[in-house]
Amino acid sequence: MSGADFADRRAKARARLDAIDPHKRAGGADADPYRREWFEAVYELAGDDPAGVPWAGLAPHPALAQWLSGRTLAGFRALDVGCGLGDNAEALAAAGARVTAFDLAPRAIDWAKRRFPESSVDYCVADLFDAPPAWRGAFDLVHELYTLQALPSALLPAAARALASFVAPGGALLVISRARDDDQTIDGPPWPLIRANIEALAVDGLRVATLEDVPASETSVRHWRALFRREGDG
Ligand SMILES: C[S@@+](CC[C@H](N)C(=O)[O-])C[C@H]1O[C@@H](n2cnc3c(N)ncnc32)[C@H](O)[C@@H]1O
Repeated sequence: MSGADFADRRAKARARLDAIDPHKRAGGADADPYRREWFEAVYELAGDDPAGVPWAGLAPHPALAQWLSGRTLAGFRALDVGCGLGDNAEALAAAGARVTAFDLAPRAIDWAKRRFPESSVDYCVADLFDAPPAWRGAFDLVHELYTLQALPSALLPAAARALASFVAPGGALLVISRARDDDQTIDGPPWPLIRANIEALAVDGLRVATLEDVPASETSVRHWRALFRREGDG
């Protein structure tokens, strides 16, 4: 299979997925406000072809890989939010963390388990907006990559509270998303985030520890990489 074949199938899949996305139509957003049906449809239509999943890089994201490079997460309990096909969760596990990874789409979770049958990662179906109560304050590192930018902006405050709720005393939240300037117009979804969106994730006892503006030269397009910390002994 050539790279050109893959790129061609991905382009066709994107066009198909855009055509069924109510958020791509004026006034259509109310049909699927949390985009749950669309995410489920992505994995269903993809079948077993990762080209059909627009965000599937089949490798840890470079902005996460860079951050992990030279770090150990030995002894950490980590949570990967909206884990998709599992590459980032596996990278967190390879760095030493005990990882739980969740996605609302059962097909994504089944696929991740099939891809990594020997994995130590605990893959499970769950919803960011209705997560298991046992996850409250249970993780030393919560990792979120590309889910926030896929959500309508009206959901970001609730998403911020949900993410913060998972972070243990002394723990951290790592968020990586595509970045845009305040005045840059976009034709989402996805909706790359502005700096204020990232800063607004510092809720319920989290504070911004670092907020990096990672240039396109390092990760193909510009990204934010932000680390938030919660005070405490951990
Ligand atoms: C843009 S994809 C990114 C996937 C993965 N983080 C990656 O970078 O490959 C967003 C993922 O979040 C999942 N998702 C969307 N809304 C969610 C929610 N409310 N709870 C859990 N997962 C959600 C989707 O099913 C999808 O797999």
